[in-house]
Amino acid sequence: MSRRPLVAGNWKMHGTRAENAALLDALLHGQEAYATADVLVCPPFVYLWEAARILKSANIALGGQTVCAESIGAFTGEVSASMLKDVGCQYAIVGHSERRALYKEDDALVARKFVATQSQGLTPILCVGETLDEREGSRTFDVIARQLHAVLDVTGIAAFAKAVVAYEPVWAIGTGKNATAEQAQEVHAFIRAELHKRDATIAASVRILYGGSVKAANAREIFAMADVDGGLVGGASLKADEFLKICAAAA
Ligand code: 13P
Repeated sequence: MSRRPLVAGNWKMHGTRAENAALLDALLHGQEAYATADVLVCPPFVYLWEAARILKSANIALGGQTVCAESIGAFTGEVSASMLKDVGCQYAIVGHSERRALYKEDDALVARKFVATQSQGLTPILCVGETLDEREGSRTFDVIARQLHAVLDVTGIAAFAKAVVAYEPVWAIGTGKNATAEQAQEVHAFIRAELHKRDATIAASVRILYGGSVKAANAREIFAMADVDGGLVGGASLKADEFLKICAAAA
């Protein structure tokens, strides 16, 4: 089965209104780079509405960097999936390692966020990934399986027909030290095999993105691997030229 590549830019907590507008404008002018790939940007919450207006009907989707597991109520500071949808998002990232590590989001909460995202018709991008300690202790597959099954056990495999998985080794995020194409492929194949145990068709159709120090210089080699369907890009998504080159590498 051929899967359409997806490149997602996770801007994290960066940018100003003016910088974002310039970045989006540059991406809009570089559309030929991603004619055959899906492209998504995830600005900070406060900039989503304006980003949606700038993008209008352009071929670039919008996503939230995280989402609240609850749908409405007294949850100070949180943003619900319906709010993300209301401002024009089609995706939400759930389980990013920074949310897991810095904000103590556990597997159970990540599963609830995944469900909340889909309940509004948005596509969750479920992030999984091991720390350096876990990799060096030969626990990579155990960790990935635990993070994946924590969601699968709650949602069932059918939910993955409308979900994206992102493999983001924690040791590769923001370090400049990307996983090799072979290391990425090994874990991506493992994720797909875990999904395959539950449903072969869905496993073959799920897009699995690689994230962790993706840049123009390494994107083509990583994206060429059989089970890598694009990237979740942090730092390099803040530079239009670099991000467009990464999109072109996936297209
Ligand atoms: P970097 O591309 O900056 O390593 O970040 C990856 C990431 O965390 C994307 O979600």
